[in-house]
Amino acid sequence: MGEELAINGGPKTATEGFPSTGSASGRDLGDEEIALVTEVIRSGKMFRYSGTMVEQFEKEYAEFLGIKYVQAVTSGSASLHTAVATLQLNPGDEIITSPVTDMGTYIGIVQCNCIPIFADCDKLTLNMNPESIEQRITDRTRAILVVHLFGQPCRMDEIMDIAERHDLFVVEDCAQAHGATYDGQQVGTFGEIGCFSLQQSKQITAGDGGLVVTNSEELYARARDFHDKYYDRAGRTEGRIVERIGINYRMNEVTGAVALAQCRKLPSILERRRKSAGRLVELLEAVEGINPPYMYAKTTAHSWWRFAFTIDEEVLGVDRDTFAQAIGAEGMPFATGYGGGTPMVATPCIANHVAYGDSEFPWEPPYGRDPEYNVEEYPGTVGGQQNIFASGGTEGHTLEHAEIIGRGIKKVADYYRDRK
Ligand SMILES: Cc1ncc(COP(=O)(O)O)c(C=O)c1O
Repeated sequence: MGEELAINGGPKTATEGFPSTGSASGRDLGDEEIALVTEVIRSGKMFRYSGTMVEQFEKEYAEFLGIKYVQAVTSGSASLHTAVATLQLNPGDEIITSPVTDMGTYIGIVQCNCIPIFADCDKLTLNMNPESIEQRITDRTRAILVVHLFGQPCRMDEIMDIAERHDLFVVEDCAQAHGATYDGQQVGTFGEIGCFSLQQSKQITAGDGGLVVTNSEELYARARDFHDKYYDRAGRTEGRIVERIGINYRMNEVTGAVALAQCRKLPSILERRRKSAGRLVELLEAVEGINPPYMYAKTTAHSWWRFAFTIDEEVLGVDRDTFAQAIGAEGMPFATGYGGGTPMVATPCIANHVAYGDSEFPWEPPYGRDPEYNVEEYPGTVGGQQNIFASGGTEGHTLEHAEIIGRGIKKVADYYRDRK
């Protein structure tokens, strides 16, 4: 018999907290960022079209990703809004996306007067399921907006094949997946446009910030113009002739300075995340009844925004809620119920079609077909949200942290299995 569980009064496995992306404990922010921010302040050039930081950041991120064009914006949500805007779709057009994500994935769709339609997810990853995407395509569908959840790419070979056969655009929400690769290819480079976030919890951060990436010169030009009120700074037109409604999503130079320093650290940040997560995978593989993070056969590099595992309740002889309470008492930083525990189709603004005044525009006729969203249609998503235990990875996690987490989970798993 193993050690007594902390939940039963035994010794707690983790006597201290773990690094967090919410503070210096889990972040690599320091002298490099301070030096570049200081340079901006001393220069007096805070605006991106006066200074050089944002432009340099775009250039270096493009090199990191191996893509032609990068447009910095103010957030991941802004990048997704900009990306959808570049497709120049019509009101009521449908975009198939994921029911497990941040609101930022949907805001841009609805701001462009398009309608989100949801595919179910794979239960073990909470990434969109290609078969379900194909089932939800109608003659109104124009694009697929994939979300690479937790830092693992979606099944992009199958999704790109569907998009090609149905003549659909693909936008990639890579907010959680800087540096992830599928079959050796970086996320953000599969579809027409990729979107990234620099919000506090992401692999690199400037507090807030975002990126739109593309290999298309035309889409890049649209993104650049849209994010800057559709002003023509290159002098293509005379005077203030504005061809379309845009917005102001310009990144400022202070944010650009932090983002540039973070971009230079990205390979090393990813290496550190992969090292500790890789060790934890090894440790959990050795525990009967614990399923380490599920990887698609073609996932070549996970970027570990979240570390997600499941348990086999029958093998362990314990239900997941009891297991969650027991590992929580051991100080293990895992939670079930990612994304609020239910698919986002149930969140009021989506379920009730609330965006513009008292109307249900764009969902209602004459533009939309008033789609109904029923939670019962997302069994993989609900199953995954209930079963997956997820914890945030950080660049501050060391091999020692992995050992402690591995020990805590093993202790609880062994305890229940032995008493079955
Ligand atoms: C999958 C996903 N999409 C979009 C966003 C929106 O990014 P931001 O918070 O930078 O607007 C986030 C971040 O929270 C996210 O995790």
